[in-house]
Amino acid sequence: MDIEVLRRAPLFATLGDDVFAALTDELTELDLPRGSSIFREGDQGDQLYFIISGKIKLGRTAQDGRENLLAILGPGELFGEMALFDPSPRTATATAVSETRLAGLSNDNLRTLLETRPEVSAQLLQALARRLRRTNESLADLVFSDVPGRVAKALLDLADRFGRPATDGVLVAHELTQEELAQLVGASRETVNKALAEFVQRGWLRLEARAVVILDLPRLRQRSR
Ligand code: CMP
Repeated sequence: MDIEVLRRAPLFATLGDDVFAALTDELTELDLPRGSSIFREGDQGDQLYFIISGKIKLGRTAQDGRENLLAILGPGELFGEMALFDPSPRTATATAVSETRLAGLSNDNLRTLLETRPEVSAQLLQALARRLRRTNESLADLVFSDVPGRVAKALLDLADRFGRPATDGVLVAHELTQEELAQLVGASRETVNKALAEFVQRGWLRLEARAVVILDLPRLRQRSR
């Protein structure tokens, strides 16, 4: 298992070597091809997952069939813990948007670890608080920001986590279709397309297949506020 990826993640970085080893001893690795789901909204859950490589989208489907993406997660992040901490069915469907390697931890093993290693609890609480902060911010953006502002912010967030330097800017290989990007910012595909086209026309972005190159970070940042 490529444990080093997890070791560097904020969730694990401050754990002592023995605690980290106790945690990783209990993990089971699994590979998910792009497009496949590890669980669906409404399923019962008995494991949580850490992402070793790739990306996972967490989505919910409304009664009328419309979809909303709660988050795109990458290496070092975890999901699927809510079914353990607040026993109830899965609150979202988790799907690989690229080939993804996960490490699963059973609820029983996690419970034992939390009882014997309080450092793990502290790190999990921090991860949950960080997620709540991010969710609150998205909620405020839905109320206070227009769609181009939300698209700019989503691209900057994806750039922060998945961006790589390119010759003319920052390459963000987000792996999302425009439909998925629209589901992530809570807008229609047409409106999101229009916002992206406007950014391209202003010279802030270049669009590539399931990726963008951000050419003017300061302007995009300004537009996201
Ligand atoms: P669970 O309900 O077991 O399965 C779906 C998972 O999606 C959930 O646990 C969380 O880990 C994750 N999740 C739910 N809401 C959010 C959110 N707003 N941001 C990031 N992840 C989330």
